[in-house]
Amino acid sequence: MVWRKSNPMPNFRGRRFTNAHETMIWAAKDKDARYTFNYESMKALNDDLQMRSDWLIPICNGAERLRDEEGQKAHSTQKPEALLHRTILAATKPGEIVLDPFLGSGTTAAVAKRLGRRYIGLEREERYAKLARKRIAQVSPVADLDAISIVAKRDEPRVPFGSLVERGLLEPGTVLVSHNKRWQAKVRADGSLITADFKGSIHQVGAHVQGAPACNGWQFWCYNVEGKLVPIDMLRQKVRAELN
Ligand SMILES: C[S@@+](CC[C@H](N)C(=O)[O-])C[C@H]1O[C@@H](n2cnc3c(N)ncnc32)[C@H](O)[C@@H]1O
Repeated sequence: MVWRKSNPMPNFRGRRFTNAHETMIWAAKDKDARYTFNYESMKALNDDLQMRSDWLIPICNGAERLRDEEGQKAHSTQKPEALLHRTILAATKPGEIVLDPFLGSGTTAAVAKRLGRRYIGLEREERYAKLARKRIAQVSPVADLDAISIVAKRDEPRVPFGSLVERGLLEPGTVLVSHNKRWQAKVRADGSLITADFKGSIHQVGAHVQGAPACNGWQFWCYNVEGKLVPIDMLRQKVRAELN
């Protein structure tokens, strides 16, 4: 991975390139080792686009930067918490142990604690170890476990659209409306949708009306709840919650 610094320190002497990135090694013990990669979390963190291997994150400054009594930087290479947030979220599950053998001011442990992970930190300089201990003690773990749980799509139970009809969550004959209100389709008893000229799954009919190659029908089609359009995915989530 490459951490690209959006606000790197300038090279004051003007004798070499501005040092604007750091390389991060993402590795496992051997090629058969199992490893965690929270693909869905990374995608969610990046507005539903696959997370890239180059991360544009500012260096640590502002209120996050730890200062000593004289107002000087307490550690010269304190990492930004955003960098560790992404790293820990990508590669661990809640409750797992994160090891930082060069803990410095304690950024890794502080973020690990906040995200409900355990941590081990090594630091040879007593003043930094003290700084890190104090910092970590001030961090509270996120209390709402739902907010830090990792749910991979492949782990979620499959809920066919037809099962919503079977369960009576949508009546046959219900008219679904596209989220932009341009198209309508009627729900059939077998869980398919029908328009004036086409019949198929929620995805097929969504793609057909738009003339698009594919469509996520769960997000495209909405139903009416007290005058408001709500994606049918809400009903799927309700069923999943019951199944879980
Ligand atoms: C780049 S800094 C880490 C900064 C840290 N990520 C942070 O956000 O504050 C590296 C740290 O490793 C410590 N260190 C270097 N060699 C070490 C060793 N052999 N054992 C333990 N700590 C070591 C240094 O004292 C320094 O504080």
